[in-house]
Amino acid sequence: MMDLFSQIEEPEREELKALRKELEEANYKYYVLNMPTLSDREFDEKMRRLQDLEARYPDMFDPKSPTQHVGSDLVESQKSKDKSNKAFETVRHKYPMLSLANSYSREEIEDWVRKLPSGVEIVCELKFDGLSISLWYEHGQLVRALTRGDGVQGDDVIANIKTIPSIPWRIERTDIPDFFELRGEVLLPWERFEALNKEREEQEEPLFANPRNAASGTLKLQDPREVARRGLTAYLYYMLGENLPGTTHYERLATAREWGFHISDAIKVCHSVDEVMAYIAYWDTERKNLPVATDGIVLKVNNLAQQEELGYTAKTPRWAIAYKFPAEKQLTLLKEITYQVGRTGVVTPVANLEPIQLSGTIVQRATLHNEDFIKSLDIRPGDRVWVEKGGEIIPKIVGRDNPTPGEFYDRPQDARSSGALHPSREGEGFTFPTVCPECGTPLVRVEGEAAWRCPNEAGCPPQIKGKIEHFVSRKAMNIDGLGEETIDLLYRQGLLHNIADIYDLKAEDIAVQERLGEKSAQNMLAGIEASKSVPWARVLFALGIRMVGETTAKKIARVYTSIDLLQWATAEQLCAIEDVGPQIAENIVAYFNDIRNLEILDRLRKAGLRFEGEAAQGPQSDKLAGMSIVISGTFAQHSRDEYKTLIEANGGKNVGSVSKKTSFILAGENMGPEKLKKAEALGVKLMTEDEFLEMIK
Ligand code: IVH
Repeated sequence: MMDLFSQIEEPEREELKALRKELEEANYKYYVLNMPTLSDREFDEKMRRLQDLEARYPDMFDPKSPTQHVGSDLVESQKSKDKSNKAFETVRHKYPMLSLANSYSREEIEDWVRKLPSGVEIVCELKFDGLSISLWYEHGQLVRALTRGDGVQGDDVIANIKTIPSIPWRIERTDIPDFFELRGEVLLPWERFEALNKEREEQEEPLFANPRNAASGTLKLQDPREVARRGLTAYLYYMLGENLPGTTHYERLATAREWGFHISDAIKVCHSVDEVMAYIAYWDTERKNLPVATDGIVLKVNNLAQQEELGYTAKTPRWAIAYKFPAEKQLTLLKEITYQVGRTGVVTPVANLEPIQLSGTIVQRATLHNEDFIKSLDIRPGDRVWVEKGGEIIPKIVGRDNPTPGEFYDRPQDARSSGALHPSREGEGFTFPTVCPECGTPLVRVEGEAAWRCPNEAGCPPQIKGKIEHFVSRKAMNIDGLGEETIDLLYRQGLLHNIADIYDLKAEDIAVQERLGEKSAQNMLAGIEASKSVPWARVLFALGIRMVGETTAKKIARVYTSIDLLQWATAEQLCAIEDVGPQIAENIVAYFNDIRNLEILDRLRKAGLRFEGEAAQGPQSDKLAGMSIVISGTFAQHSRDEYKTLIEANGGKNVGSVSKKTSFILAGENMGPEKLKKAEALGVKLMTEDEFLEMIK
């Protein structure tokens, strides 16, 4: 009898579980991704069947079942946010996510091959330029999708990864191991990247520099619907786990392809460096026709036993190496040089170019660095210049098309310099402007610096806005809801001219602004209010006195425990502070000598900012006096910054690297392997955060 029951029961219990999964997925696709996969009718039928089965097997009740809740458009990460206060769950990798050693030439590849067993097979693959991802499959089900993080632990971005059509949620096969992991690269295809940037440009949002940055920004969004809309894709290139089929990397990838994973076709088993070089030569050109960004190729030892034998260094496998394509360079016409004024008044020359396609994007502007750079290359409008774009950097001019010696240099007629045609490029050449292109103030060039600067700090628009942006930034006053665009908007509306104006903003002023609703106004005002409790050292940093960075501000605030004391300090007195040299001291004195600054400070004081500090009063105990302490790893109770403050507040010194002089290491989870090794070698003690907190209690 029992047997007969279980013969019916088992399959039904399985069906119940499968239905829950299927309906959960359907809900997600319908509500979150806006991509329904089942018709309403199918959905209802399946739901009804599930309800029946659940009624028949009450022991299988689960409050999380789709029968027990309505479909939600909350992502898993947001649900978990409520619990852990963090957007994504951080998870330890099963196998550390290492990087690859780089090579740039045939010689370097030969050097690497020489260290391998003779006759070794090498698999060549494209090196995709996106973000690495680790996908965990348990019983065929995608259960985690971890970013690389620090290599030891990463963020689980599964809700976003599930929006990528080529990543299977489930592998319906019986011949797969219980657990396996696939690693690969998440990418935003060129076409999507350009469309996204175009959209952002229209909405005056900051542009992404390249598809990798765009993919990275996208993967960290907390709105999978938006992620889905942007259209990420993925290529997988590495399968790991126990009891996997195959004895070579190539076979494993072929298996993964058979299981339904998206594996590039550009994979080739090579037997000689010549073959590898031919692969490189082919793909260096052909990659321009690919829909996604690549920045090199990856060479991997094919045989898995040989891979294991070769093993790993602390950071990279010995059985693989990357070859990076040289940065793409092209000649184009320099139409005009314009000038951009930065936050600190530095005037940067910008090359306006005849647009060219370079590393997949259209380039029409590039930096010319400074006057000396332009003069040293003798670059003038009308010249043909070499433009280079590597990785994430802004395109730059790296040279000028030199005329062949003895040949006439064909300088175009509209070149804005002396002669239109001349053999030696004699003549007056290029001259840097003498006044600020934004406000007309005569520029100054500080001795010893290459940059020209606009001294009109209080009246030059980009400087005004830049100062405000610095003031509200995270490490300064940390005012949420007041970003670059809002500052620009409020500046243009005449509501924001200096940092003190921030504290006069009223809800009505803000809410009526185009694009700023009442809710953002409330957010902003809450952020402004909260900034009033920012400690004195950070307020000092936020003021934006030239060359007074975060660390210097802390050191000054520790000695000058209030603004009233600091205001009357002489340059000589200030120089007595660690890290404060004559230039910084002069800048501080000059800041307090400017009546406009004093007026602003007065208004800030009235607004309630903290102009004196407790944290700034030097060590609160001497429990750690004379100790040098290294912080390593991640912590549960305080952030690393907070531990740094605690060390300093107790008279200790936080140092970066482990040496004989290190008193102890405050060691969190996943301490860096290098530090650990060194600590062991030198016999430096490790202390847990609990022990540390007990010690300074
Ligand atoms: S294999 C242990 N194969 O390049 C070796 N990596 O610079 C694991 N990458 O972190 C990596 N394309 O994000 C491998 N075909 C490919 C790759 C690739 C791109 C990325 C990956 C890695 C980085 C190292």
